[in-house]
Amino acid sequence: MRNRNVLRKNADPLSCAIEVAGSKLHRLSDLLGAYQRRDPAARSKLEILLLYPGVHAMIMHRVSNWFWTHHMHFIARLNSQIARHITGIEIHPGATIGRRFVMDHGMGIVIGETTVVGDDCMIYHGVTLGGTGKERTAKRHPTLEDHVLVGCGASVLGPITVHSHSRVASGAVLLHDVPEYTTVAGIPAKPVRSVKDKHQKAASSASLRVDDEDDICPDCHDKKRHLSRATHL
Ligand SMILES: CC(C)(COP(=O)(O)OP(=O)(O)OC[C@H]1O[C@@H](n2cnc3c(N)ncnc32)[C@H](O)[C@@H]1OP(=O)(O)O)[C@@H](O)C(=O)NCCC(=O)NCCS
Repeated sequence: MRNRNVLRKNADPLSCAIEVAGSKLHRLSDLLGAYQRRDPAARSKLEILLLYPGVHAMIMHRVSNWFWTHHMHFIARLNSQIARHITGIEIHPGATIGRRFVMDHGMGIVIGETTVVGDDCMIYHGVTLGGTGKERTAKRHPTLEDHVLVGCGASVLGPITVHSHSRVASGAVLLHDVPEYTTVAGIPAKPVRSVKDKHQKAASSASLRVDDEDDICPDCHDKKRHLSRATHL
């Protein structure tokens, strides 16, 4: 960020525009790559860009969020409602969403205003990241840390935190915090699996993301093996 500011001070507007466009394209390519890794049905980045509603919703959310953070609330809401009509995904413009966020299938997803989503998270259709309706605090919606997966139809409600590398099973209704590397299921959701072993943790991370050096298997130093795991999710 500091580098960019330095560049902005010294460079002409065209260079700045090219730099910003380059970084946006890089982020978009990163997002398309995340879909490619996680969806075995995805054939190419072009196909994902043109046909995946999760990608369209995310691009439109970045625009809505820009308007929201620049205090243009009406136009932000208008843009997010247009996105909802096109994609079936409702993301409040105030929601904070990290990189490589995959919304598979998309339809019926609702993400509330004070939701925070970390990097490399994945959710399926019908997921609600919402409030319980009882909160009177500023933060009413959940936080998903990095590498969290939420299965189809699950509801994550209230200002709770799902810590990194955890999974919320499809159909669950989650009302409490989830520790890291834990799977929760049921109504109300309870822990059904917790990963404690170091090697299992490495495999669990790799099943959600494979483009990091960290994700190379500590035993076999093989990324491809993890890629095959990732495509099974
Ligand atoms: C939760 C999930 C991510 C698996 O996570 P995991 O950490 O590998 O958990 P496991 O598969 O080892 O399951 C652990 C336990 O939870 C149970 N479980 C898994 N999913 C469950 C669900 N949705 N509801 C209730 N129990 C569930 C398993 O039966 C298992 O119970 P057992 O130990 O008594 O056999 C996966 O089951 C899931 O729900 N994925 C979402 C996928 C999805 O939404 N697909 C839509 C495609 S269109």
